[in-house]
Amino acid sequence: MIITIDGPASAGKGTLASFLASCYRLAYFDTGMVYRAVGLEMFLRGLNVEDEAAAAEIATKLTFQRMMELSTHPEFRGPRGGQNASIISAYPEVRRLLLKMQQDFCKNPTFPDGSPAEGAVYDGRDTGTVVCPGADVKLFVTASPEVRAERRYKEFLSRGIQISYDEVLKDIKARDERDSTRSAAPLRPAEDAVVLDTSSLSIEEVEQKACAIIDSRLVSLENLKKSV
Ligand code: DC
Repeated sequence: MIITIDGPASAGKGTLASFLASCYRLAYFDTGMVYRAVGLEMFLRGLNVEDEAAAAEIATKLTFQRMMELSTHPEFRGPRGGQNASIISAYPEVRRLLLKMQQDFCKNPTFPDGSPAEGAVYDGRDTGTVVCPGADVKLFVTASPEVRAERRYKEFLSRGIQISYDEVLKDIKARDERDSTRSAAPLRPAEDAVVLDTSSLSIEEVEQKACAIIDSRLVSLENLKKSV
């Protein structure tokens, strides 16, 4: 089973994806990592993220293993990591180059220890529209910019990152604008995605709603199999 979860920054996709992956025993691919990895690699090599050709060169050489190594760097999940990833992800050629790695995982999903899984949960911006258009279940998770900024602000504080709420909100709005207006794979729900607005929901409520959607989809798929 392949589940895709798309939506804007800090909508709760990662928390939900991890929960669903463990609940349904599926592998997990956080696709924002591919863009964060290219951004961090550029930063470590002293390259400017505004340099599209240099970003494409780094994207060509990026391997899954290198991405996992880079993900342990403190800058990877920091504010700069997110901003750089957002800039890089607007480059059509970079997106094209990083698509294969994301799609390959779907053909051969594995858990972090390398053992095979019977499916995967993807999270990102275009996983239901571009990366896995044939996914079994597609969710689009969203929330108001203010609610998302509050969540991200608390997350940064808990990790000891000094930043103000206003800066986080400004960054969230800038990323929303960039992610949804770029020409390559702009952020939007797939036509067959179920939209979940989490603004006034607790994590548990979001998880319950998502499980109900998935379980009913599994029943429909099972009935479809029986009828052919
Ligand atoms: O989910 P995240 O914050 O780690 O994503 C970082 C950036 O990567 C985000 O601003 C947009 C981009 N991204 C994308 O364009 N497509 C994806 N499937 C995942 C992330």
